[in-house]
Amino acid sequence: MSLDLTETTITEAVQKTFTAAHDDRMREVFCSLVQHLHDFTREVQLTGDEWFTAVDFLERVGQMSTPTRQEFVLLSDILGLSVLVDQIAHQDGSTSTTDSTLLGPFFVEGRPKAENGSDISGGVDGTPLFCHGSVVDSAGNPVAGAHVDTWHSDGDGFYDVQQAQKLHDKLAMRALLTTDERGRFWYRSIAPRYYPVPTDGPCGEILRAADRSAMRPEHIHFWFQAEGYEPLITMLFRYGDPYLETDAVFGAKRSLVVEFVDHQAGETAPDGTTMTEPFQTVEWTFTLERKDQGDVTDRAEQT
Ligand SMILES: [Fe+2]
Repeated sequence: MSLDLTETTITEAVQKTFTAAHDDRMREVFCSLVQHLHDFTREVQLTGDEWFTAVDFLERVGQMSTPTRQEFVLLSDILGLSVLVDQIAHQDGSTSTTDSTLLGPFFVEGRPKAENGSDISGGVDGTPLFCHGSVVDSAGNPVAGAHVDTWHSDGDGFYDVQQAQKLHDKLAMRALLTTDERGRFWYRSIAPRYYPVPTDGPCGEILRAADRSAMRPEHIHFWFQAEGYEPLITMLFRYGDPYLETDAVFGAKRSLVVEFVDHQAGETAPDGTTMTEPFQTVEWTFTLERKDQGDVTDRAEQT
């Protein structure tokens, strides 16, 4: 290695240190990462103070991160990286399957399993919501036995993990369900609401400094896994939400905007109950893509 590295020769010198890597993909990714990182640094003429600020920022993102507060995921989300990775993974442009979108920072392992028809609200107060879904393949055939993870906020826009003290560390408004022989799943919960992504950590500093909105439009998360099919991570967004066009994490898609139907007290709910209060229903068909080959890794069984 040269002892006379310059602003331009240092890039190749670093890249050469990866040429012996056993993993071709690792070599490709790191050589490209070094190229872009160095080009970026030269382009903006990064100062020492700015470098210290960036390192301190990343250190604080790490310190803030826990299994239930995923600040690194949030950083990826607000920079559009999560959605970009998802779009690259689905760039075949298939219109026969349901669009995917980002996972977001509020998925947690260890969510409770639930039977179809059960109340997954965990006792959190709110406007009752009845969610009915169907899971099919691109030919419209039902996908039986699919694992369906679902999670959402409460009516004030907070997830269970954001109010652990109030809920005594109990998970709520999330569950793992399984589709029946006709590919259907259904549950009762409470209506979610639009919400700001957490801004009390380092990511909030970026949003404030850029005068950016932290709001996400109202949505319900879903993660489908079925043997023989590609996993699908997606969301349903409420039609008419004021934040659809300005989603802080760039996850909202036109094809995933659906009607959350309002019902009045006295109407009959899908489970046959005559409701004494207003409630909502949402119904959607999700289409999975068949796997070409390979084994199915069933994450749902790992919990
Ligand atoms: Fe969310």
